Amino acid sequence: MKNSISRTLADKRILLIVGGGIAAYKSLDLVRRLKERGASVHAVLTRAGAKFVTPLSLAALTGEPVREDLFSLTDDARMGHIELSRDADLIVVAPTTADLLAKAAHGLADDLASTLLLATDKRAVVAPAMNLRMWLHPATARNVATLKGDGLTFVGPDDGEMACGEYGPGRMAEPLAIVAAVERALETPTAIPLPPGVGERPLAGPLAGKRVVITSGPTHEPIDPVRYIANRSSGKQGHAIARAAADAGAEVVLISGPVAIPDPSGVTTHHVESAREMLAAVEAALPADIFIATAAVADWRVDAPGAGKMKKGADGPPALRLVENPDILATIAGRAAARPRLVVGFAAETDRVLEYARGKLAKKRCDLIVANDVSPASGVMGGDENTVHLVDAAGVVSWPKLRKDEVARRLVDALAKRLTGAGG
Ligand code: CTP
Repeated sequence: MKNSISRTLADKRILLIVGGGIAAYKSLDLVRRLKERGASVHAVLTRAGAKFVTPLSLAALTGEPVREDLFSLTDDARMGHIELSRDADLIVVAPTTADLLAKAAHGLADDLASTLLLATDKRAVVAPAMNLRMWLHPATARNVATLKGDGLTFVGPDDGEMACGEYGPGRMAEPLAIVAAVERALETPTAIPLPPGVGERPLAGPLAGKRVVITSGPTHEPIDPVRYIANRSSGKQGHAIARAAADAGAEVVLISGPVAIPDPSGVTTHHVESAREMLAAVEAALPADIFIATAAVADWRVDAPGAGKMKKGADGPPALRLVENPDILATIAGRAAARPRLVVGFAAETDRVLEYARGKLAKKRCDLIVANDVSPASGVMGGDENTVHLVDAAGVVSWPKLRKDEVARRLVDALAKRLTGAGG
């Protein structure tokens, strides 16, 4: 790749929306030009765009997955459309069709491309390409005027011979002209600032000014470099609590085991694999006002994991010697120094739920145990609902079956009240 790093484009993240039109092939060259100047490019292909270039060629050139659908289940779960536009430094739409201009001018959001344009507060550079009659139509002219008023930057269209054989304005600007427009746009501030205070973490809220550390998900304990011991925890409940605590104004650190769900927004998330890594990450995140242990930590690890992949041999299956993992909850609750004021554990049980929960409350010296039935019949593991009982020294409070995010909201509320001495 040619070495032409540009100061403006180096390390910038460009979100490129490729609309439908014969000019879409030039967008492939545009990707190359942006990348050789040091930018990274994430591409979104509209349904019409995919008639002209393939996701494969865009993915190969950008080196990133290409997004096509607003509601795709196969797209990277960590990248919702809000994250996609928030993560970008600038959006480029090339080619921009008359249809995309009309949608953007009217704030329509019925596919990924139009939704991104509506959801972003970043600058957008649009490179129209269409038949000259469409470009000259008063409807398009109105839309262009509206979008210019909204702060979008237009580059082109150029005059020239069109694919349809006519001559006039409508050809997409050349990639280098688009690159120049992108560089200029990057040097000007964000297009659509939010009103003061909006979009920021609330300074008020029942946990404002408080720090909360939460563990979530399973742990993976290696057997050898390719195998591990794990469990069925999805991390949904712990992640929901992290989000709820952040919504309540807290500064939240989430220590997550390997999960398939996205990091919650507004939360600092650290990813770990094993119980020992999880404990070290929690200790590094202290001091905190509240510690909540929702992770399904593996109780045991393999004493001496294989340095290389274990092979089948004449001796039969290996005998794995297990040793106990550190108990993170008990370690934090038992700290003499910097013990969080509230230490909350979960008790996942398949039977005698309350009895075992009371036992854990005492043994692990925590302030509250949230007990739940995780027997296969309950559907809690991996499901979206949970029936919990709050067990503390004063007794038991049982909540009805609730969505995990509602459990999270209520729990955060109850903890905030305890912290401020307002009961609960
Ligand atoms: N926990 C922990 N570290 C461990 C094991 C458990 O922090 N090594 C925490 C869990 O996050 C949870 C609580 O302890 O908050 C109870 O976990 P649970 O799996 O229900 O209980 P265990 O202590 O593992 O006991 P048992 O397996 O006998 O039920």
